[in-house]
Amino acid sequence: MQKEINQVFKFRRQRLIELLPCDSIALIFSNDYQIRNRDINYPFRQDSNFLYLTGFNEPDSILVLMTDQSKGVDILFCRPKNHSEEIWQGERLGLTQAKETLNVETAIDIESFQDLFSGWIENKKNIYFNLQMPAKQYQKIKPFLCGMESQDTMIESLHEINHLIHPMRMIKSPEEIMQIQIACDISVLAHKQAMKACKPGQYEYELESILISEFIRKGARFSAYESIVASGQNGCTLHYTNNNSRIKPDDLVLIDAGCEWQGYASDITRTFPASGVFSSAQCAIYDLVLLAQMTVIEALAPGIYWQDMHQLSVKIMTQGLLDLNILEGTLSHLIESKAIQRFYMHGIGHFLGLDVHDVGSMKHQGKRRPLESGMVLTVEPGLYFDQNDLTIPESFRGISVRIEDDLLITPTGVRVLTADLPKTSVEIEAWMKV
Ligand code: GLY
Ligand code: MN
Ligand code: MN
Repeated sequence: MQKEINQVFKFRRQRLIELLPCDSIALIFSNDYQIRNRDINYPFRQDSNFLYLTGFNEPDSILVLMTDQSKGVDILFCRPKNHSEEIWQGERLGLTQAKETLNVETAIDIESFQDLFSGWIENKKNIYFNLQMPAKQYQKIKPFLCGMESQDTMIESLHEINHLIHPMRMIKSPEEIMQIQIACDISVLAHKQAMKACKPGQYEYELESILISEFIRKGARFSAYESIVASGQNGCTLHYTNNNSRIKPDDLVLIDAGCEWQGYASDITRTFPASGVFSSAQCAIYDLVLLAQMTVIEALAPGIYWQDMHQLSVKIMTQGLLDLNILEGTLSHLIESKAIQRFYMHGIGHFLGLDVHDVGSMKHQGKRRPLESGMVLTVEPGLYFDQNDLTIPESFRGISVRIEDDLLITPTGVRVLTADLPKTSVEIEAWMKV
């Protein structure tokens, strides 16, 4: 790891220490290996808070932050060097290197954690950790918490660390924006390749293989989530991941896929016709979703409320469905009765960062929180018409459209991080023809 990068993590730990009251101890656990079967593990993915504060990608580690009257310290518990285990599991940083490379006050063998922790909490008034932590992690601290003077003292001392870390993660630094932009660039390339390669008669997984291959070829070994390649009716299953149907000539294909780069996610959806040409019914729905998406994107800026953006997309698409005779009634009544929820069952988007559905809240102290410069979000309206829905005109049945881009809120407006991917029906048809 480079020195300048280590300073970024040190700076984040210092900011967190400053948020801790005097006489506090905060624990941030790494993830552990997850067993897939017998002695085979799932691919290791670091805990996002731990990664945010350390940049350290090893399991069996705990970051401890402590404050007293005069100062705060950062301590890392991790695995020491072990030649025979490293032969199987790969090289470890070890204690000496961890202290030096990660720039922590001290690095200590993870095996010593409980002994030291039991002494440390005796003179701490506040203990911060993830109150929803996995049981296996909680077991490591439970005996000492239960040993505190009384149940009341214990409950008063325990605090949710996420309430301090999540607001920090909600506003992205220039370094983080750079990583997200790289993830977006790779995902844009992958979507372009898959869109161009699509032919009726292929299986959905053939397109999935192009996406994953492009991610890995560019050094992004992991997807930020399982890719969705949904043809025709499968698009109505919002988190469809079977990806094993044969693509029919008249199908729309909805691809929702994004790679992860240095832990940072991208999250892109495009919908295109398998044949390379939209039918008029497909185009009508596509243009309506696009109108909602572009109108919301143009409205985004610091000070805007996210809840209003969802309502804006509802209003535009409800009016569009009225014009297409898919809904009947007055606009105001249809909006009030949430009539569109049958066809648009999710929100306008979400925060994006180390988690694809990143941490943070659009509410603060019971009030709506306005957008701020440095937030990264997706905008992803969609309309989904089941093939068996006899209440809608036949030509629209089986059509599913979602259009999703990733955006950065800037001091004056918004920057689309995934702008290089064809999006209008004309751009898509032209790209698929080349
Ligand atoms: N790919 C998941 C989502 O769009 O939220
Ligand atoms: Mn999304
Ligand atoms: Mn998505």
